[in-house]
Amino acid sequence: MTMTSWTTIAIAAETAAAPLEAGAATLVLASGEGDALTAAPGDHDSLASSLRAVGWQAKPGHRLDWIGGAGERLLVLGHSDKDDMLEWLSLGGHLVEAMRALRIETLHLPGAETIGAEALEGLILGALLHGFKLDQGRQKRPEGELALRLVVRAEDQSLVDRATGIARPINRARAWTEQPANLLIPSVFAQEASEALEGCGAKVRVIDRAGLEEMGAGGVLAVGQGSRNEPCMFVAEWRGAPDREGWDAVLVGKGITFDSGGLNLKTAPIIVKMKLDMGGAAAVLGAFERAASREAKVNIAVVVPMAENSIGSNGYRPGDVIRMLSGQTAEIQNTDAEGRVVLADGVTYGLREYDPRHIVDVATLTGMITGVLHEEYAGLYASDDALAKSLVDAGEQVGELLWRMPLTSQQDYLVDSTVADVSNLGAPGLFGVGGGSPAAGAKFIECFAKGRSWAHIDIAGTAWITRRAQRSGPGASGFGVALLDQWIATLEDSGR
Ligand code: BES
Ligand code: MN
Ligand code: ZN
Repeated sequence: MTMTSWTTIAIAAETAAAPLEAGAATLVLASGEGDALTAAPGDHDSLASSLRAVGWQAKPGHRLDWIGGAGERLLVLGHSDKDDMLEWLSLGGHLVEAMRALRIETLHLPGAETIGAEALEGLILGALLHGFKLDQGRQKRPEGELALRLVVRAEDQSLVDRATGIARPINRARAWTEQPANLLIPSVFAQEASEALEGCGAKVRVIDRAGLEEMGAGGVLAVGQGSRNEPCMFVAEWRGAPDREGWDAVLVGKGITFDSGGLNLKTAPIIVKMKLDMGGAAAVLGAFERAASREAKVNIAVVVPMAENSIGSNGYRPGDVIRMLSGQTAEIQNTDAEGRVVLADGVTYGLREYDPRHIVDVATLTGMITGVLHEEYAGLYASDDALAKSLVDAGEQVGELLWRMPLTSQQDYLVDSTVADVSNLGAPGLFGVGGGSPAAGAKFIECFAKGRSWAHIDIAGTAWITRRAQRSGPGASGFGVALLDQWIATLEDSGR
């Protein structure tokens, strides 16, 4: 079995003072006209005047390979004047990009005493996030690829530890999302999630197919029945506030390890990306891992229905009517609208088992949201204004943006069925495109949220980005881990 794994930039503690080894350089940060230098070693003034003389402008990401007065190699990197966490994360990315481009294997960083603790932590975290690569299990490293290394002063080790602790669950979520679907089948995903979360003190359990049958989780079972890789449900609990009764929140993640569409088969170019369809699961697992590993004073659980939406003779069919875990019946009008079906059972299970104050589901639910909110915003649907606001605020703080979309009782008809309690496809509307509406997906799940404080986050557009962003390079973004971690922290603060 191939465990999901990844690599990122390595970080070492400084031993000797002079960074003169081959392929090594020292980082110098510059802003403004290039003459406001932070952390320039040696003759600061002469470097600044040289930069002025050649007319170098210190724009964010601009870089210069320079030989200093004592013959040492300097990487001069422009950065923004804004002292903002996201700018530092982004700069960490520029640093990795510069090292790759200029073939600098080892980069010595300035100390926290010169650039500030927050800046250094952000820079390191940014480098760990932008340095991420899925370990593809190649036997040979691609030609020209360097193993990059940052060297940090020994007295800054605690900042390295903090950044590593934040980067790990995010990068794990990204690795899961990028892991090919032949390797990350439901049982393997559940096993890997168990190991990761047990490792930080959480209580975990996996409900296998027989268990799902016993409890009547007809939604997860139907979606998973076409695949020889059986569905399951992964559950984890963290009681970080044991003196407090009850559960603050349940997070539910869409864990479709591959979405072929089923009998409503997807076509190129979409189908080839559909290993990403457990990005919502990865996000809630990552946030949970982060919360547990920092011993957050909250009581939370995650519920992740895991299934492969496969095509095959045993697959569920358009027109099938299934009985959900809640007892409601659902008409399957389209086997490709499978996310809402597994999430509905996840939400039902979460409410039944934990009766939480809030329930939040995260899912790569609809292609349509990607054409509306693109890669910068995830769609937020919520039954509770205060919950919606706290999620939007949390997202703004970490640079994972949510845009709240309307969800009202006027849209109830979207999921009307003539034969069952609900339909998994939206009403087509005049032009026939209503069926794929993200709101219809949200409405379907809402039917199972029982009027509770619930929110749904559609990350179909943000889970995998095609352009460099502040928090990461292209590929799986880990969107939602930082946001939900930040949101969980607000539950801690409010002491409820
Ligand atoms: N997993 C897809 C949504 C998706 C599409 C995520 C593209 C990321 C990128 C989801 O299960 C799906 O197939 N949705 C359908 C819904 C429709 C059949 C109601 C869609 O968006 O077309
Ligand atoms: Mn689908
Ligand atoms: Zn899907």
